[in-house]
Amino acid sequence: MKISRRHFTKLTIGGSLALAFGQGARASDDVLGQKGIPSSVEKIPIVGLGTNRYGVGDNQEQRAMLREALATFHKLGGTVIDTAPMYRSSEQVLGDLIEELGIRDALFMATKVDVNGRQEQAARMQRSFDRLKYDEIDLMQNHNLIDWQNAIPAMREWQEEGRVRYVGITSSRESQYEEMERIMKNHDLDFIQINYSLADQRRSDQRLLPLAADRGMAVLVNRPFGGGRVFRKLGGAEIPEWAQDFGAESWAQFLLKYALSHPAATAAIPGMTKKHHVEDNMQAARGRLPTPAERKRQETFFDSL
Ligand SMILES: NC(=O)c1ccc[n+]([C@@H]2O[C@H](COP(=O)([O-])OP(=O)(O)OC[C@H]3O[C@@H](n4cnc5c(N)ncnc54)[C@H](OP(=O)(O)O)[C@@H]3O)[C@@H](O)[C@H]2O)c1
Repeated sequence: MKISRRHFTKLTIGGSLALAFGQGARASDDVLGQKGIPSSVEKIPIVGLGTNRYGVGDNQEQRAMLREALATFHKLGGTVIDTAPMYRSSEQVLGDLIEELGIRDALFMATKVDVNGRQEQAARMQRSFDRLKYDEIDLMQNHNLIDWQNAIPAMREWQEEGRVRYVGITSSRESQYEEMERIMKNHDLDFIQINYSLADQRRSDQRLLPLAADRGMAVLVNRPFGGGRVFRKLGGAEIPEWAQDFGAESWAQFLLKYALSHPAATAAIPGMTKKHHVEDNMQAARGRLPTPAERKRQETFFDSL
């Protein structure tokens, strides 16, 4: 990994907040928890931002809401943003809002490539750079394993040219887990991105998460709330008192802390378009994470609801 000027600024900003943050470890409540990227010396904050609902086009009212969410995310120390060309106009909207807020150099930007064919992939990646208004992307990921055979070498080539800092693959579908496992065994990747949630999506911890740890791959956890429907189920239930032992004061923090306390998880990227959701979720990066015994208790409790 090459250290560019933008990256150096970011490491310096991040370095002043950096904290090794492991399972059960105690972080000061004032400091945002961070975990390391195994293929590098860099640490990233453990709560990032998913943007599959940022494709609002020119709707100014919705853009104002997203600007507020993004500004709050930045103010609270968030850096990791995950987007994709598949999320309608999300890259475009993000590119505009990031420029308006003047926060480009502070962010860790991740996007994806999702088309067939080497030439088409190069054009697609260039379009993401243009829409996001970046000349270096932190993490380029192959979306849902679409033509990964061409995408991995294409992304690696851009990495060697210094346009992309890290390379990864993503999925959120159990039907792709076996294929993902095969790719992870046969290719060196900096990151994988996979769904992992207390909300009925725990299967990735059987093979993929342990394999990522063995292979030295960072893990971004997508859909930590199982897409969000879980909040309806939890709406009528009380958060157990023992959740306060690891600082979970809301259901979102309860779920995020579960995902983040898996030893292989590097950061979670909950989708959030509202300021109050950002404030709630960023709080999950503070204080300590559940121990293995507390994780078991979380599972038993959740499954009994
Ligand atoms: N294959 C892939 O690469 C792949 C697949 C799926 C997802 N992803 C990535 O992962 C990200 C997360 O997935 P997701 O957005 O589908 O699902 P999610 O993070 O599990 O859930 C998002 C939903 O939860 C709501 N929410 C967020 N914080 C909340 C809180 N504190 N309290 C109550 N509700 C809250 C959001 O509402 P608001 O929007 O109203 O704030 C949104 O409706 C995506 O945005 C995307 O970047 C990648």
